[in-house]
Amino acid sequence: MSENKNSVWRTEVHFAPKYGWLNDPNGLIKLDDEYHMFFQYYPEGTSWGPMHWGHARSKDLIYWEELPIALYPDDMGYIFSGSCFLDKENISGFGADGKAPVLAFYTSNEAETHQEQQCVAYSTDMVDFTKYDGNPIIPGPEHSNRRDPEVIRNDVIGGYTMILTEEECIAFYHSDDLIHWERSGSFVPGENGLSGICECPCLFRAETEEGEKWVLMISMILTDEEKEKTLSVYNKSGYVMQYYIGDFDGKTFHDTEKADVPLLVDYGTDFYAGVVFSNIDYPLSIGWIGNWEYSADIPTSREDFRGMMSLPRKLGLKKTPAGYRLQSSMLIDNIGFECTKTIDNRSIHTEEGMFIVKAKADSGSEIMVGNDVHAISVKITDTEYIVDRSNAGKKDFNEKYAEERCSVFRIPRQTDSNELTLIWDHAVLEIEADNGLTPVTLFAFPEKNYDRVELKGNVTAEIFS
Ligand code: FRU
Repeated sequence: MSENKNSVWRTEVHFAPKYGWLNDPNGLIKLDDEYHMFFQYYPEGTSWGPMHWGHARSKDLIYWEELPIALYPDDMGYIFSGSCFLDKENISGFGADGKAPVLAFYTSNEAETHQEQQCVAYSTDMVDFTKYDGNPIIPGPEHSNRRDPEVIRNDVIGGYTMILTEEECIAFYHSDDLIHWERSGSFVPGENGLSGICECPCLFRAETEEGEKWVLMISMILTDEEKEKTLSVYNKSGYVMQYYIGDFDGKTFHDTEKADVPLLVDYGTDFYAGVVFSNIDYPLSIGWIGNWEYSADIPTSREDFRGMMSLPRKLGLKKTPAGYRLQSSMLIDNIGFECTKTIDNRSIHTEEGMFIVKAKADSGSEIMVGNDVHAISVKITDTEYIVDRSNAGKKDFNEKYAEERCSVFRIPRQTDSNELTLIWDHAVLEIEADNGLTPVTLFAFPEKNYDRVELKGNVTAEIFS
């Protein structure tokens, strides 16, 4: 089924651009029966550069069609991350011919002065985007981090809310017309959880048995001190996504669920800048498979691209003995794979390059996906999952990537569920464990396609391809 037989690392179901550099997903939105994804994109090379919004569209959230670039850098700067919002009632007045406009909120980043300002562009056909001539809609000073606006309808006090980062805090702005914004509050992460420069905030609601709660996800650039202090139980990469659970009073967010450990959206090193789709009634997210510590050097440039997106994940909150926790379920049914083999306690050949493993693995067991020389190992103990990519493939492209802290992830188990789903796609492994409480995302770069699964201990698995 793959067009990718001659390339080793080009993913099949994890979106990557045909050519160029990609980071954060931007402006995720569902319109009619199509999903649109914009993304941080540099089309002229495979390294980060003047940012554009690339554009792709999908009907099934798995196979994406790449479309023309939606937003180009301009006099105000590069086009940094942001969100899309369907202005159904044409409150902004940017609609035309009776069609409601989609507003693309983004940050313009002036590269030399590092002035970050919030801007808007609009479209009624999702092809041509016009930048508003009154930009910026929220001005910003030079040399300051203020970015990545997410706009949602404010059902609590009416109007609309924009959530964006301001250095080490999250700022909330309110508007009645989607153009004029006033600051309504702020939330400073850290007291419980992690502090640092914040990026790509994302606020959404989730149903629980105690009624609705709000979740605030934030991508974090951690200081060295913060890494040491708070992440001793996890890996120590300098970039993580954390989340808070609480209330949104219409003006700001308050965290109400306190936890003893920082709550992470993903427990691998390579999931960042995740945000949810707009214009659908449940939280559905996609994140960038990357890490600023070493993504600039990953060897996929040999195959003309750098950067890929995660599979879509349905998010929710699940009550555990320790309190509510984020639960994420990968939407993989649309991949359309069928169970081809059922195995236990041995090594088996799989379809080359991409396959799914659904395992029941008791503690003391191990699952390896790999080829004859390299593999990623997942060990299940009574208390932990230990995911080890230190012998998974090429790693001489970046020293940090090769360090143990970025190679071996020891993740505390939160349940005694023995079910794990692993999706290997050429260079990306996504694992769903602990009933979705423990997603683990990482990349690895084998010189030859992975083509086998090995099981040790008390474990059985079904292979889908
Ligand atoms: C997060 C980020 C955003 C910014 C974008 C620039 O990965 O740093 O904060 O808008 O990437 O490409």
